[in-house]
Amino acid sequence: MLIKLAKASDCKESEVTPHVSYLSRRTLLGGSMLALAATGLPRMAAADPSLYSDVEAGQAPRWFSEKLPHTQWQAMTVKGEAITPFKDATHYNNYYEFGTDKGDPAANAGALKAEPWTVLIDGEVGKPGRYALEDFMKPHQLQERIYRMRCVEAWSMVIPWLGFPLAELLKQVEPTSKAKYIRFETLNDPAVMPGQRSDFALIQWPYVEGLRLDEAMNPLTILAVGMYGRELPNQNGAPLRLVVPWKYGFKGVKSIVRISLVSEQPVTTWQNIAPDEYGFFANVNPKVDHPRWTQARERRLPSGLFSPNVRDTLMFNGYEEEVASLYAGMDLRKNY
Ligand code: MTE
Repeated sequence: MLIKLAKASDCKESEVTPHVSYLSRRTLLGGSMLALAATGLPRMAAADPSLYSDVEAGQAPRWFSEKLPHTQWQAMTVKGEAITPFKDATHYNNYYEFGTDKGDPAANAGALKAEPWTVLIDGEVGKPGRYALEDFMKPHQLQERIYRMRCVEAWSMVIPWLGFPLAELLKQVEPTSKAKYIRFETLNDPAVMPGQRSDFALIQWPYVEGLRLDEAMNPLTILAVGMYGRELPNQNGAPLRLVVPWKYGFKGVKSIVRISLVSEQPVTTWQNIAPDEYGFFANVNPKVDHPRWTQARERRLPSGLFSPNVRDTLMFNGYEEEVASLYAGMDLRKNY
């Protein structure tokens, strides 16, 4: 992003090796894009974690292994679009705490200790507290949500996340009437995060993101603890990250340690660095270009010189039906 004054063309495809795997061949068959496998709606055909057998095994914490068999597989999916190979999703990352090159997070994030982990809930809530992650996760059943992910840098992927609706957590912690926004903070640990030690001080750590409360309550918004049928790899934001599929990827704050309900719109990391380029809303919008490049198209990874795999970007990343009403009457050029 801004750090390297990146243009869309800066996302070097030479770093992405086409990876022939089961997943890359697998085109999702299931139902409508938003086939909600919620109560009362028909369930999608159950996917089995063995479908992800070519995925690099991790070291799942016990609470995660215990939850996995009860997962609601393919609770939501994307019709007719192949899942991005695991290798690409885990080796072409943005996680500036671990470096600014796409391969840096995979190379450097091994030092992050995702267990034990605690999450602080504070601010305008009836039930504040600091929770061990396994306790925090106790009430929630995992769902597999297969979502498009569109980076503001004009590349995209399709990722099978494992997580639960953020709305479930919000109901549990009881926001007060003053709570209008939700603010998320990433771990701040310069000892394990070289990006936080560097003199390159454009980013004020910790990384902060935020949502309006109604965006946070939307059923598409999830907190993810896994992907590709396993726990999150460190470079993808272990052990807990936000996924908001209709917004640019930078809203998806990684390795969350604090969730605060607040009355004022929080100042978010990229907005703080370059407010003219990165807004609070950051809704995927092909009609509103980034000041330095078009947002009308995107490269779906894996892509390369001879098969660039460019496609049109969809309004709200293809989730218009589910989220457009959140922005009724708003000028999306001003509120980018
Ligand atoms: N969260 C933190 N803490 N630090 C970051 O640098 N990068 C963001 C977002 N979350 C980032 C972050 C950006 S710019 C993107 S596009 C996505 O993470 C990338 O997620 P991925 O690496 O899992 O694809």
